[in-house]
Amino acid sequence: MFGLTRARKTAATVVATAAAAASALLASPTASAAPQPIVGGTTTTTTAYPFMMQITDASQNQFCGGTLVAPTKVVTAAHCMVGETTGSVRVIGGRTYLNGTNGTVSRVSKIWINPDYTDATNGDDVAVLTLSTSMPYTTAKYVTSSQTSVYAAGTTARILGWGTTAENGGSSNQLRTATVPVVSDSGCRSSYGSDFVQSDMVCAGYTSGGVDTCQGDSGGPLLIGGVLAGITSWGEGCAEAGYPGVYTRLTTFSDLVTAQVGS
Ligand code: ARG
Repeated sequence: MFGLTRARKTAATVVATAAAAASALLASPTASAAPQPIVGGTTTTTTAYPFMMQITDASQNQFCGGTLVAPTKVVTAAHCMVGETTGSVRVIGGRTYLNGTNGTVSRVSKIWINPDYTDATNGDDVAVLTLSTSMPYTTAKYVTSSQTSVYAAGTTARILGWGTTAENGGSSNQLRTATVPVVSDSGCRSSYGSDFVQSDMVCAGYTSGGVDTCQGDSGGPLLIGGVLAGITSWGEGCAEAGYPGVYTRLTTFSDLVTAQVGS
């Protein structure tokens, strides 16, 4: 087993860490490199990515991402929803900043967790939320079960989230995005051995690391050609050389998601 970090309901911790990191930087402005995006990337907005949802606790503290695929349906990671109830989570659309108060806040009327899910490193890391309030934002298309060629090694994929901008860093107040190449299944197996479940996972990242999703980005999208093709799931640390990010291979779960979107 790796030192896998699947930090989920850690919004309070992340905020505290962010505050500590900010004061550390103020105390010694030259002591550390500028924080990197997502890890490695740029700021963006929910105007640019209107389907990008914050998944928060009842106090609107973000702990995961999600993707709006229908006005009342959000795809996220199963590991984000473990221990949650319809009363404990909210979904917020149209809010670029974690400390914003704008956008649309919805309660959740149903949480579907893939019934086969046990742990992110065993695969099956997909959940679908049904919202009580329709989101007035453009939805994302998601891959069909037959579109398996989207994961060709080297294909550019886009990642999005408010997660930490360094392995042990703080969350980003503003939504961030980056692009990473899809890694071959053999390459991913070299990194993760039997924790890489080829049927359920796809890896993305540079061999040298430097750009990756990180804690708090889970549940958010991996877009290929603008279409939802993966869900941020797990990884060894963040942006480490030789350890790409691992994403749910959505083609495998597309029909299950469609059943939920239509329910
Ligand atoms: N499990 C993390 C979360 O819950 C996401 C980790 C992604 N890690 C990575 N190295 N790509 O937010």
